[in-house]
Amino acid sequence: MSDLYAVIGNPIAHSKSPFIHNEFSLQTGQEMRYEALLAPLDGFAEAVSAFRQHGGKGMNVTVPFKLEAYKLVTQLTERANMAQAVNTLKFDEDRILGDNTDGTGLERDITINLGTPIENKRILLMGAGGAARGVVLPLLKAKPSILVIANRTKNKAQALHQQFAAHGNLESGDFADLSGKNFDIIINATSASLQDTLPPMPPGIFCGEALAYDMMYSKELTPFLEFAQKQGVKYLADGIGMLVEQAAESFFLWRGIRPETKRVIDRLKQRT
Ligand code: ATR
Repeated sequence: MSDLYAVIGNPIAHSKSPFIHNEFSLQTGQEMRYEALLAPLDGFAEAVSAFRQHGGKGMNVTVPFKLEAYKLVTQLTERANMAQAVNTLKFDEDRILGDNTDGTGLERDITINLGTPIENKRILLMGAGGAARGVVLPLLKAKPSILVIANRTKNKAQALHQQFAAHGNLESGDFADLSGKNFDIIINATSASLQDTLPPMPPGIFCGEALAYDMMYSKELTPFLEFAQKQGVKYLADGIGMLVEQAAESFFLWRGIRPETKRVIDRLKQRT
């Protein structure tokens, strides 16, 4: 019998995780099955428990259950604890380990796949919701010269700043506070793209060789990437690479093998 894994969420039908993990297991020769599991909005814990009883070894957790997963686990990795959100579960006999691979996925996509070092760079992280919180620690561990968190609601950016202050050089504020500043890497972790809009960035925010990174992805350029392109930014990236890298990091936690990601990213980009 092959080991069983799943991604759990609501909705889940369009999840790319089964495709990604299937590619990983073929590539590494791991005997495993990976399914998509729709949980009722009020039935997350029950669905996880039933999956475990079925012999499930691990899960990816997606919207809207990352916070519930954080509360459900019996043990947390440091990065999941700091993110206050869990996107990966690993089941042992009497233990549920919760991890968060999103931030490491982003960091690896930027530094390895896109070849853009974070060390000593000026980074702007836009947004202070769940998506932003999940990536702050891995970004700080890559030692940027500064990480500025900007959010429409200023006090949420300030709260994140306080929470992570001990881990690196941080600043926080709203978008007006960004006036006159520029950055090497600008990451959009807001959900503005979902409303087909973009955060109110002041002009001149991109350095000459800047990378604009949107954690969202879509067939066409997101509004943020379109804006960046019009500002003359050469290096544009959407969240497909991060998606594949966070999956690879989960796969590594479960199977102890790191799959190769580049081909999977390329295939997904063709499909999207
Ligand atoms: P997620 O889990 O995707 O981060 P969230 O926790 O609801 O979702 O957070 C959404 C983030 O996008 C927040 O930082 C939000 O800003 P506020 O805290 O001010 O609400 C940001 N956001 C959403 N729509 C935005 C817009 N049109 N312009 C700028 N920021 C926006």
